[in-house]
Amino acid sequence: MQIGKIKVKTPIFLAPMAGVTDYPFRVLCKKLGAGVVYSEFVSAHGIIRENIRTHNMIRFSEFERPIGIQIFGDCPEIMSKAARMIVDKFKPDIVDINYGCPVPKITRRGAGSAALKDLCLMDDITTSVVEAVPEIPVTVKMRAGWDSKSIVIPKVANRLETIGVKAITLHPRTTKQSYKGNADWSLIRLLKQSTNLPVVGNGDIKSPEDVLKMFEETNCDAVMIGRGALGNPWFFKQAISLYNDNKKIDNPSIKEKISYCRKHFIQMLDWYGEKVGVNMMRKHFGWYVRGFEGASLIRKSLVSAQNKNTMMSILDSLY
Ligand SMILES: Cc1cc2nc3c(=O)[nH]c(=O)nc-3n(C[C@H](O)[C@H](O)[C@H](O)COP(=O)(O)O)c2cc1C
Repeated sequence: MQIGKIKVKTPIFLAPMAGVTDYPFRVLCKKLGAGVVYSEFVSAHGIIRENIRTHNMIRFSEFERPIGIQIFGDCPEIMSKAARMIVDKFKPDIVDINYGCPVPKITRRGAGSAALKDLCLMDDITTSVVEAVPEIPVTVKMRAGWDSKSIVIPKVANRLETIGVKAITLHPRTTKQSYKGNADWSLIRLLKQSTNLPVVGNGDIKSPEDVLKMFEETNCDAVMIGRGALGNPWFFKQAISLYNDNKKIDNPSIKEKISYCRKHFIQMLDWYGEKVGVNMMRKHFGWYVRGFEGASLIRKSLVSAQNKNTMMSILDSLY
């Protein structure tokens, strides 16, 4: 598949996830085969204020290409300035606009999925970003609508295509739903039938088999994996093997899982330094250390450990 001029080798993508898809996790998923990886969403205001923490969230390595940097905001002018600044300073392959975040702190300000209630604002933001960075593809990640009475699929597809967006990712839940209920994959199919743009299907892919099922049921061009990859980056290897060669790969052994977790932890320490790395890794331990006898006790001791050495020795003892 292709997004603008970007050729994508594997149509199985890593979803943007705040507090999760930082450099260490993205690299791990990329090594295991993710076709496109995305940064977590980054505030357009923070970007143009040149906030160091915000800019650090955008840094990436050449190895990660093609990479999309996702931005959010409520003001077309600030969004366009932010997109331009990112492209000049970091040169990502894709700029993605977040029209999916349901968190009230974000939508109250008119950002994220608030645009689903105000399609003129969505038009203005999208147009200003597309015009600001004509040299790279701009994509959109959205939910299906604000609530079940205001589904905007397929209405927005034509508008976004005309503005010059190069792909749409759909998480087919409404803002009001947040994460409740099921993602309605029939809306991904409807979107695909309504646009010539590549459609990336997202939502509730929990197993490599679900990847095939989503392709079959929706005819989408690529799929995007979010929660299925938490503490589970090998998801990509398993899904790609099934997708490309129809071969099922067994789940990794406990030893292999711990080895991935250890690699991830080392990258986190390198990237953030010990204090922040240790803190940020706690949630990942909670996701990695699951599904085997005694996991709950080990998880508790890892999450409550106070420093890198204690954490490392708990991991080592699992070998
Ligand atoms: C911890 C977490 C953080 C997320 N952060 C973002 C984000 O920054 N930008 C975004 O577009 N979606 C974000 N999402 C939504 C996911 O990208 C994805 O659309 C959603 O989880 C549904 O896909 P899944 O069922 O595969 O998890 C986040 C989801 C989770 C669980």
